Amino acid sequence: MNLITIVGARPQFIKAAAVSAALTSTAGVSERLLHTGQHFDDNMSDVFFRELGIPLPTWNLGLGGGSHGAMTGAQLAGSEQVLIDERPDAVLLYGDTNSTLAGALAAAKLNIPVAHVEAGLRSFNRRMPEEINRVLTDHVSHWLFAPTESAVANLQREGVDAARVHQVGDVMYDAALQFSALARARAVRHPVFAALARRPFVLATVHRAENTDEPERLRVIVDALVELARETDVVWPLHPRTRKVLAQRGAVLGSTASLHCVEPLGYLDMLEMEQAAALVVTDSGGVQKETFFFGRPCVTLRDETEWVELVAAGWNRLARPTSVAALMAAFHAALGSVGEPVRPYGNGDAAQRIARVLTERPA
Ligand code: UD1
Ligand code: UDP
Repeated sequence: MNLITIVGARPQFIKAAAVSAALTSTAGVSERLLHTGQHFDDNMSDVFFRELGIPLPTWNLGLGGGSHGAMTGAQLAGSEQVLIDERPDAVLLYGDTNSTLAGALAAAKLNIPVAHVEAGLRSFNRRMPEEINRVLTDHVSHWLFAPTESAVANLQREGVDAARVHQVGDVMYDAALQFSALARARAVRHPVFAALARRPFVLATVHRAENTDEPERLRVIVDALVELARETDVVWPLHPRTRKVLAQRGAVLGSTASLHCVEPLGYLDMLEMEQAAALVVTDSGGVQKETFFFGRPCVTLRDETEWVELVAAGWNRLARPTSVAALMAAFHAALGSVGEPVRPYGNGDAAQRIARVLTERPA
């Protein structure tokens, strides 16, 4: 089977690392990567290829930035050309970014079967660009690899043919297990570990459009993290989107003695940060789950989440950024809390199961 995997954004490199390793060890599969270029900074893209041993992309379209339509349209045309030239047997896609939707449309219109990893996730909030991307991608996919029971139920409700849906577990669990050992074995770590000097700290990440592009929500989040840093160290790796928005508003966030605003971390540093943190505050999908993998409490700065199991089991609290007091109350309630012992994301063999389905049940 001749596969082309289309990736473009940070979480997709991490997911692809787990699945590419499984595909490499599967007889009869050859995989090449197409990088749309949606994420392009060294610390948002190249670092993952260097650290995680992902095959280097055969194509990099260099198509990042711009409005949703401009970016998705350019990626659609660019991906289509590669698919016309190469005629792969299938196209493999991850998650819910503009690169995912562009790849899905390009492949489906050429009648090339699409495999979608992380199928069936829903926030039921159509104002999120990711919700549009994931719904549309699921409905043109041939293989839908769902991580959870609730994802399978969402697809059933939308009338997707059950024979196409495979509940395999979450490839991010595979990646976290696989790369934690590599992270521990390293000699060199990010300097922020030394700056913390083993003090308890909170790890924060913020990048969702619903937070960065709403001035009042972003102000509340920044003020709450600054307030929290009066009580405990806070490490905040700033996503380029957030850094740009803050700069446009004249709010250049510098580090203080206890608020460590750093550049985006590599995945290995990030895994160790999550394991060591007393609490994680985030609006990231992937980070919500990793926090749970490592048994840490999480506050999610959103109105809803796709990863509903973690809220139900008490590992994750949703906190709408409406006021600093509300966020501080959520942080204090979460610190030191633990949830119920649940295992909603499989056994760490999702990538192997995906490789098996692709080879044993070809389109
Ligand atoms: C994208 C995904 C989001 C995912 C996130 C992962 C879409 C619609 N959104 O959001 O689902 O959770 O990636 O991190 O696909 N930028 C840089 N350097 C980079 C990358 C981005 O400067 O390496 C800038 C871009 O030029 C742009 C902004 O950051 O101005 C946002 O980037 P974009 O890829 O549009 O969306 P993300 O917020 O990263
Ligand atoms: N991540 C990272 N460095 C960072 C922040 C996040 O390596 O500074 C990793 C994180 O561990 C997770 C993934 O990036 O595996 C999540 O990606 P992101 O938050 O960008 O997107 P989302 O999951 O929300 O789509």
